[in-house]
Parts: sequence; C-alpha cells; structure tokens
Amino acid sequence: AAAPLIDAFGRRITYLRLSVTDRCDLRCRYCMAEAMTFLPREQVLSIEELAEVADAFIDRGVTKIRLTGGEPLVRRGVDLLARSIGRRLGDGLDELTLTTNATNLDRYAPSLFDAGVRRINVSLDSRDPDRFRHVTRWGDVDKVLDGMAAAKAAGLRVKINMVALAGLNEDEIEPMLRWCASESFDLTIIETMPLGLVEEDRTDRYLPLDRVQAALAARYTLTPLAETSGGPARYWRVEELGAKLGLITPLTGNFCATCNRVRVSASGTLYLCLGHDEQVDLKAALRSGGRPALDALLDSAMAVKPLRHDFRIDTRDAAPAVSRHMSVTGG
Ligand code: GTP
Ligand code: 5AD
Ligand code: SF4
Repeated sequence: AAAPLIDAFGRRITYLRLSVTDRCDLRCRYCMAEAMTFLPREQVLSIEELAEVADAFIDRGVTKIRLTGGEPLVRRGVDLLARSIGRRLGDGLDELTLTTNATNLDRYAPSLFDAGVRRINVSLDSRDPDRFRHVTRWGDVDKVLDGMAAAKAAGLRVKINMVALAGLNEDEIEPMLRWCASESFDLTIIETMPLGLVEEDRTDRYLPLDRVQAALAARYTLTPLAETSGGPARYWRVEELGAKLGLITPLTGNFCATCNRVRVSASGTLYLCLGHDEQVDLKAALRSGGRPALDALLDSAMAVKPLRHDFRIDTRDAAPAVSRHMSVTGG
C-alpha cells in the first residue's frame, strides 16, 4: 500500500473534509457576509475530479471523508459523488458522511443512505422560526426540521451542530438538548471561530463553552465518554436525559495536538489547517491526470501543516485570524 500521510509533528491524516461547493442557500451571520463572492464555475472541480481527490486520499490512508460546502446539498450531482465515494467503504474507507444545513435533506436522505452514509451532522442554531430566520438571514426552520425527519426516516443518525452565540441562543441550549434527547439526535455545541469578515463583531457573540458546561453540570449529571467520532468534539452522556452531548472548544480548549484532518476546497485547494493560510493547489495535477503528481503534492503538503491555530476572539474590531470564510472549506 502507498505510504500514509504523516505531518511534521507525527500526526497521521485519516480524515478528509471535502468541500463540494462554496455556495450556500443561507447566510448565517457568523459564517458569511451578506454579499459573498463565490468561485467562478470553471474553477470548481467536476464530480469526477472530486471523486478522484477522494480516491487519492483513501489510497494514502484516509478512512473518513466528510462532504462539506458551503452547503453540500446545493451542488448538483452530490448524490452521484456520494455513491462514487461510497464504493470505497470497506475498501480503505470506514465512514462517509456530510455536514448540511438540511434545507434540501428531504430530497437527498434516501440516496445518501443508499450511497452508504449512516450518520450526518445538521447545522441548527435555533428552533425558533424568527430566530432561525434572523441567524440565517432568510432561512425557514420548517425546511430544516422536515429534512431531519426525512433523514431519520431514511435510517440516518443525526447530530445537530449548534454554534453557541451570546445573546442569541444561549437560553436555547438546554431546551435544544432536551429536544434532541426526545428525538434521539445527538447535540454538539461549538464555539464561534474568527474566519472571514462578517458584519457582526464575533467578540459580541462569543460564548465560551466552559460557561455552558458549568450551567449544564449544575442541572445534570455529565459523564465524560472516552469515545470519539474522529473529529474535534469531546463527548458526555447527560444521564438524566439519556442524551449525548459534544463540545467543540477551539478557544477554551485547543484540540490541535490530536489533529487528524485536512480540507480540500471545491476548487481543489488543499488547506492544511482551518486557522491558517497554508495551502497546496491540487487542481493542476488533477487536471493533467497524474496520480504520481498528486501524490507528490500530498507528500509536500505534510511538511507545511501548522502545529495549531492561533484563534483569539478577545479583541474587538480585530481582523479575523484567517481572511477566508468558513464556507470556503466547510469548517
Ligand atoms: P464528527 O465526525 O461528528 O466528529 O464531525 P466534525 O465535528 O468533525 O465535523 P462538523 O462538520 O460537524 O464540524 C463541527 C465543527 O467543528 C465546525 O464548526 C468545524 O468548523 C469544526 N471543526 C472541524 N474540524 C476542526 C478543526 O480541525 N479545527 C477547528 N478549530 N475546528 C474544526
Ligand atoms: N465558527 C464556528 N462554527 C462555524 N460554522 C460556520 N461558521 C462558523 C464559525 N465562524 C459551523 C456551521 C456548521 C459547521 C460546518 O461549521 O454551523 O455546522
Ligand atoms: Fe450556509 Fe452553513 Fe455557512 Fe450557514 S454555516 S451560511 S448554512 S455554509
């Protein structure tokens, strides 16, 4: 077998986050500016090229692939891509999954399950229709709830991603947890990260999760779980509710030491860290069709993967740590 991908700090890369489009049908205020410039179509990789990227990484030891966006389900042919990558399940690949806003999930849930997807993450910061519309700028929460119901009906496990936003959804965290428990969904809460310029100052919305954890621990028994999902979350069982709670704490609890992931954008740029600009352009090698050239780029990329992000969110009006938006790499 080809050599595994190991970075300069000895971390093995087993998780690829593959962005299939930088576009989205929503504009979450902490993620995107209202007016965004998207990739010109000719720069976006074809479905076949995206499948080739996935294959190359699986051949180098990646066992988990997450399709991301923007919003992955606005990309035409994403179901064909899932089916194509899904053929590698059991042949190098252990898990194929995606992170979606679920507005189009009702249409795609059955075909995703058929492709081999068993678990999805859905972004949902509020279940209140007016608040949801505010956060997403125009989203309809009922579409999302329908999407999640369709996913459940199709046999997919659902985990909700909730970005903790001070003054916006802090009071909804506990109700969300209760609702997730009743629906058999898992819940992961995420600290907002400073990527890309948006209209709001993220300092005003920053809600450190140590505060959230303390508030929940005052009411419930939180038992730490040893298991991981191969991602950045740490998990607890909320005993009284029978719920599984994940916390992603880039600001209050850096998890970079165990980083196992890289990202490829929809234009074929390999980003080595969410919090840095280090990148390697794979598109030319892909388009000239040479796997050896692609492999050589993956090897050279390992040498430049940064040790950790340097996110800070304590300085008002500071430029974001990274100028590219979260939607370029899907987080
Ligand atoms: P699981 O497979 O369920 O563990 O998913 P995941 O947490 O790996 O993926 P998801 O797309 O649901 O991402 C949840 C949040 O984690 C998003 O806000 C991502 O931006 C963030 N995230 C994922 N990987 C990293 C990382 O390497 N560094 C940082 N700082 N954040 C990350
Ligand atoms: N900080 C933290 N999470 C973010 N997401 C988007 N932008 C940010 C940000 N600035 C989340 C989305 C989605 C996941 C991929 O990343 O809500 O669930
Ligand atoms: Fe779209 Fe997801 Fe960004 Fe919201 S967080 S604007 S749903 S890409």
